[in-house]
Order: sequence, then C-alpha cells, then structure tokens
Amino acid sequence: MPLSTRTMAVQPNHLTKSYVLPLFILFVTSGISTTHAACSKMDQQSLFSSFDIASSSLNWSSNDCCRWEGITCDMAGRVTHLLLPSKRLKGVISPSLGNLTHLSHLNLSHNILSGHLEAGFFLSLGRLQILDLSYNLLSGELPLSPPPSCIRIVDLSSNQFNGTTPSSFLQRAWNLSNLNVSNNLLEGQIPSFNCSYSPFVRSLDFSHNDFSGIIPLGLGNCSKLELFRAGFNNLLGTLPGDIHKARALEEISLPSNKLSGAIGENIANLTNLAVLDLNSNQLSGALPLHIGKLSRLKLIILNFNNLESFLPPSLMNCSSLTELNLGYNQLEGDLSVLNFSKLTQLIKLDLMHNHFTGPLPISVYSCKSLIALRLSSNDLEGQLQHEILSLKSLSFLSLSYNRLSNVTGAMKILKDCKSLRVLLFTNSFLGEEMPDGDLMVDSSGFQNISIIALSGCQLTGKVPVWLSKLEKLKFLDLSSNRLTGPIPGWLGTLPSLSYISLQSNFISGEFPKELCGLQALRSEKAATQTGHDDLELPIYPSFNGSAVILQIKYLSNIAIGIGLKNNSLSGNIPRDIGQLQLLQQLDISFNKFSGNIPHQISNLRNLELLDLSRNHLSGEIPASLSSLNFLSNFSVAYNNLHGQIPLGTQLQSFDATAFEGNLGLCGSPLPNECQKKSPGDSDTTKDQEDVHDSGNGIPWLKISVSLGFIVGFWGVCGPLALSRSWRYAYFEFFSNVVDRFAR
Ligand SMILES: *[C@@H]1O[C@H](CO)[C@@H](O)[C@H](O)[C@H]1NC(C)=O
Ligand SMILES: *[C@@H]1O[C@H](CO)[C@@H](O)[C@H](O)[C@H]1NC(C)=O
Ligand SMILES: *[C@@H]1O[C@H](CO)[C@@H](O)[C@H](O)[C@H]1NC(C)=O
Ligand SMILES: *[C@@H]1O[C@H](CO)[C@@H](O)[C@H](O)[C@H]1NC(C)=O
Ligand SMILES: *[C@@H]1O[C@H](CO)[C@@H](O)[C@H](O)[C@H]1NC(C)=O
Ligand SMILES: *[C@@H]1O[C@H](CO)[C@@H](O)[C@H](O)[C@H]1NC(C)=O
Ligand SMILES: *[C@@H]1O[C@H](CO)[C@@H](O)[C@H](O)[C@H]1NC(C)=O
Repeated sequence: MPLSTRTMAVQPNHLTKSYVLPLFILFVTSGISTTHAACSKMDQQSLFSSFDIASSSLNWSSNDCCRWEGITCDMAGRVTHLLLPSKRLKGVISPSLGNLTHLSHLNLSHNILSGHLEAGFFLSLGRLQILDLSYNLLSGELPLSPPPSCIRIVDLSSNQFNGTTPSSFLQRAWNLSNLNVSNNLLEGQIPSFNCSYSPFVRSLDFSHNDFSGIIPLGLGNCSKLELFRAGFNNLLGTLPGDIHKARALEEISLPSNKLSGAIGENIANLTNLAVLDLNSNQLSGALPLHIGKLSRLKLIILNFNNLESFLPPSLMNCSSLTELNLGYNQLEGDLSVLNFSKLTQLIKLDLMHNHFTGPLPISVYSCKSLIALRLSSNDLEGQLQHEILSLKSLSFLSLSYNRLSNVTGAMKILKDCKSLRVLLFTNSFLGEEMPDGDLMVDSSGFQNISIIALSGCQLTGKVPVWLSKLEKLKFLDLSSNRLTGPIPGWLGTLPSLSYISLQSNFISGEFPKELCGLQALRSEKAATQTGHDDLELPIYPSFNGSAVILQIKYLSNIAIGIGLKNNSLSGNIPRDIGQLQLLQQLDISFNKFSGNIPHQISNLRNLELLDLSRNHLSGEIPASLSSLNFLSNFSVAYNNLHGQIPLGTQLQSFDATAFEGNLGLCGSPLPNECQKKSPGDSDTTKDQEDVHDSGNGIPWLKISVSLGFIVGFWGVCGPLALSRSWRYAYFEFFSNVVDRFAR
C-alpha cells in the first residue's frame, strides 16, 4: 500500500507546528508530500529521462520531483513510489528507470507504453515490491528473470509480451504473492512454480496466452495458493496430479484448453473451492463421486467436454452453487431421481446436449433463485409441470430438442411466468396443434417475452392471435411447422418485433402490407428501446450450416430479418417494403411471388441477405439494387426474370448460381452474353434438380463479416463441438439449418 500523504500530514514528527496547517492544505489540494528532503538530483534526472513526459497528462514542472504527481519519496528524498496509472504515457520505458534504486512501488498500468524491456531490467530495483505494467503495449520477453527478490505483486497482464518463460522466472521471489501475466502472447510451457521458493504465492493468472504442454507439477506445494487461472491457452494433459494438495485453492479456471483425462476424485479434497471452471476442454470420465464435499462451490462450469456417466447424487449437496453448467457432455441418467431442492442459491442451470432421460425434474422448481434453466437437447419427456411457476425470477427457459408433449398446456402455464424473457421450444413437441384460442384471455400473459422459438414441432393451425399482445416480442421463430392460413396483418403492429421466421410452413396469401409498418424495422429509436440486452445464457445457433459454432450473448446480436422461405405465398412484393430501412435479411425464396422486383428494395441499405429465388418474379432486375453495399448473400435464381444483369455493379460479384434458372436473363456473371439470345443456352436450361439449394435459410445471427458483428466462437473447441453437433444435429433453433446437417 502506498503511504497516504494525508497520514503523513497529521504526523509531521520532524516539523514544527506552525507548518502543519499550510502543509495540510497543500496536501489536500495537490496531493504532494513534502515530509522529506528535496528530491535526489539523480532520481529527478532518471525520472525525466524515463518517460516521454511532454505527451503525457503529467505536470512535472516544479523543481522538487518529490512534489510531482504520482511520486512519493522517502525521508532522504529518494523516490519510493511511482504511481502513474492512466496518464497517457507513451513510448518506451528508458533503462534509466533502473536508477531509481529505492523504488518499492511501480504502477504504470493503463498507459500506451511500448517496446521491449531487457531481461534483468528490474534487477537494479532491489527494493521493488509491487510492479504493475498492465494494460500497455509492451512486447518482447518478460523482463523478470530473475525478479527482484522482494517482489510481492507482479501484474504484466494485457500487454504483448511474447517468447517463452523460463522456469527460473519465479525462483528467488521469496515473497511473491500475486502474479498476473494474462492476456499476452507468451508461449512454451507454463513456468514451474516451486513454492518451496515462493511459499506465499496466492494468485497465479496465466490465462489468454499461447502456453502449451502440460501444467507442471509443483502447485501442490503452494499452501497459500487461492487462485489458479490458465484458461484460453493450448495446455495438454491431465489436471496436475498434485493440485488437490493446494488446500487453500478457491478458484481453478482452465477453460478453453485441451486438457484430457478425468477430473479425479482428489479434487473433493479442496474444500475451499468456490470456482471450478474447466469448460471447453476434452475432459472425460465421470464427475467426482464426492464432489458434494465441496460445500463452498459456487460455480461449476464444465460444459463442452466429454464427461460421461451419471451425476453423482452428492452434487446436490453443493448448496452454495449459483451456476451449474454441464452442457455439451455425454452425461446420462434419469434427472428426476435427483433432488435439486438444496440448491437454493442456484441462478443458472445448464444441462443442455447430454443424454439425460426421464420427465422434467420437478425438484428443480424448488431452486427459487433460478433465472436461467436450459435442459435442451436431451431425452426428456412428459409435460411441463405447474410447479415451474414457483420460479418467480425465471427469465430464460430452453427445453428445445426433447420429447415433450402438451404444448398448449405448457404455454398456458408459462404465460403466467412473469419474468420470462426467452423461451426456446425448438423441436420440443411433435405434431400437436399450435396453442391458440383463449390462451391469452387475460392479456397479461408473456408480458416480458422477447424471444419465442416454437419451431420444428410440426404444429398445425395458424399463426396464433395471442402473439398480437406481446409488446416486447422481438424475435419470433415459428419455422418448420405445418401452419396454414395467411400471415396475419397484426404482426405488423407488434412494436418490438424485429425478427420473424415463418419458414417452411404451408402459409398462403400475400405478403401483408402491414408488415411494412413494423416499427422496429423502420426506426432506430424503436429498435433500441428494449430493456437489458444481455442474455442470461448464451444461445448457440448455427448459421448457414457453417463450421463455426457461435454464441449469442446479447439480444442485439440477433439479426433484423423477415424469413418466409418455403411457403405458398403469392402476389406481388409490396413496394412499401422499402420502408423497412433497418432490415438486414429478407428471404422469401421458394414461394409463388409474382410481378416485378420493386426497385424500392434498394432503399433497404442495411440488407445483407436478399433471397428472392424460386418464385415467379418477372421483369428486369432493378439497376438500383447494386446500391446495397452490405449485400453479401443474394439470389434471384429460378424466376422469370429477363434482360441484362445490371452492368458494372457489385451484382456481378455474385456467383452465376445467384441468377441461373431465369430464361431471359443474360450478361455477366451468367455465361450467356446478351446479344446472342441463343434460346438453347445450355446453362440456363439446366435440369433444376441438379442445382443445389442456394438459399440456405436466414442466418438469423447478425453475421456481417464486413461489419465485424460476429459475437465470438469456440476457437479451441470448435472442431470438437462441430463433430458432435454433426452427430446429434443440435442447435438452439432454426431447425432448417439442422436439416441441412442431417442430410
Ligand atoms: C503545472 O504546475 C505548476 C505548479 O506546480 C503550475 O504553476 C502550472 O501552471 C502547471 N501547468 C499546467 C499546464 O497546468
Ligand atoms: C495500479 O493502479 C491502478 C489504478 O489506480 C489500480 O487499479 C491498480 O490496482 C494498481 N495496481 C496495483 C498492483 O496496486
Ligand atoms: C519478505 O517479507 C517479510 C515480511 O514482510 C520481510 O520481513 C522480508 O524481508 C521479505 N523478504 C524479502 C526477500 O524481501
Ligand atoms: C489479471 O489481469 C486481467 C487484466 O489484464 C484481469 O482481467 C484479471 O482479472 C487479472 N487476474 C487476477 C487474478 O486478478
Ligand atoms: C449430503 O449431505 C448430507 C448432510 O450433510 C449427508 O447426510 C448426505 O450423506 C450427503 N449426501 C451425499 C450423497 O453425499
Ligand atoms: C395439458 O396441460 C394442461 C395444463 O397443465 C392440462 O390441464 C391438460 O389436462 C393437459 N392435457 C393433456 C392431454 O394432458
Ligand atoms: C419446405 O418445407 C417442407 C415442409 O416443412 C419441408 O419438408 C421441405 O424440406 C422444405 N424445403 C426447403 C427447400 O426448405
């Protein structure tokens, strides 16, 4: 702790009383200590030449450097503290800093310092205890080999340090307690820490680097170690065999590595453990049988591994748990035999994509703190129980990909779930009737709902009227059902609605003009008025059947779109569609739309996907379409269009398949030139069955590589997760995408 100047002011032991008052005022106004001799000339010189002061926000103009901002001196006028975080310091740190030989506290975090620091840079700083260079642009090898022997806290995180870290790195640091080198470019093995050298180590953070190899033994000696983080590296092998001996451990966070093997029974010895985060590794085996001994565990995050077998009953004794995430594993067993009722602190429970069976576990409903519950992609069956209403804070519910029945009953219950915001029921039910009728008589149901996915259930009936009362509804996916009838005009009156998919139903009639009135598609103001944006659990969609597994963490990451693909819609595309300025995706392919392509579509300046293929559209392609700068996915294939594809525009950058199947269309990128007008042009008369589907369905995520909206993906475990999703074909919604996988 830096000495407080104020403390020094009220204990001016070597000053006469008459100085106290003016000095005190000085301290308060300038925060500068003067209880010392004037600044050592040597230190002043070193300070001046250490940084580029001119470009910083520092005012180092007085003669006495001990009065300068951020500097504290000892009685002899030697600089002991140099605390200059967030001072816009830039450029390199000159080696002359090493002349401040009395320095004990150095904090230069959150600046713009760059360049290399020689190994041994800090060696002359024999009294340095606290070193914080975090959040700069420093590069090269870590400057501490060996570190000053008094060092206690080292924070070099969030820089660009690279190279390997010799295991001598931590030796001789007798008093080291905190080391943070996270968020750099370090590689090679994690340095072995030998706590017989550094017995006071409490916190080690190696995360977000390129460390590889196994985690070396040695941790077990660290009797004071509370926190060990090394996530987001390329670490291999098992958990270190001696980790269970570090009895003080409160947090083990090693997510997104390639760790394998079992977690091991020994971990149950770490009775102080509060956080166990090993997600996105390749861990296998069962959960430790005696995990219930860890009564302080708050977070168990083990999703995206290969864990198997049954959940140990003792897990239900971890009564401090706030988050239990075991998604994407191979766990099995009848969930309803477990008793969740002791988990009264539990806020998030995610068991998605395992092999759990049985009815929905009714004891889960006694976890009164639950906000997010995801049991999707398992083998659960039966009906949703009334008791779910005791979860007063439940905001996120996903039961997708199970074998539930009685969707009408489920919706009748859930409409009274006052906090519910996200409801994912993709492929949960099969072949029932769309809940409708008096479901919403009291009109107070689902008043907070923002996302409804009720797709892939082969539901019959019509687009239900109760939806018309959902003022916060933003995302509606009713795709892959058997809905008939028209698209109701009242959909256009829903004030928050910005994504609709009715894809792959049997909907007929016209494109209702009312849809062109959707407020959230017309004005930025309406679109941003929704409440909090973050989702309680990330949603895992697929887009375009691509190889990347993405996660959506925010409502606003969902695309703004209308998806009507694969229905029986007819009539013209309304001109008013040009009013939906915010629309990013419009897919009306595989319908019977006729008439011209209205040139007003070119008003939709945010459009990234436009699929008009497989309709009966005629006329020419409006030249103005080429003004759609963000368009990255486009097709008008298989219509009755004619004339020249507008020349010299970006429309020519699309594949010929985007235009094929239009007998009268000519010019680049089609192979037939316009002048020739040869009726037997081989390419355009190609057998339609030969041509594969170019409309992949709406990637409903805001995928716009050009705009950089991709929300993040599992770089490390992507291949693993993908190979599994291939087998189990599971995504949270958009079943048509899954269909593509299944084919
Ligand atoms: C710098 O501080 C001195 C007093 O220490 C003051 O006189 C001067 O005006 C300050 N300069 C700026 C640019 O703030
Ligand atoms: C360095 O200063 C920043 C900003 O005041 C502070 O947040 C950080 O804790 C300090 N570092 C150390 C190691 O005390
Ligand atoms: C380690 O800390 C102790 C207690 O603060 C102190 O007495 C000792 O001198 C320190 N050792 C080194 C090498 O700095
Ligand atoms: C290490 O530093 C990073 C920022 O660079 C920070 O997010 C993280 O919490 C720190 N680790 C510990 C254990 O304090
Ligand atoms: C759960 O805790 C209770 C009370 O401490 C104990 O009696 C019981 O054996 C534990 N259950 C399991 C499965 O460990
Ligand atoms: C469907 O669920 C509702 C509400 O729980 C219930 O009243 C109804 O009897 C159920 N229907 C069937 C066929 O089980
Ligand atoms: C169209 O929808 C039907 C019925 O839902 C489905 O079987 C078919 O695969 C879909 N076709 C396309 C091209 O999406």
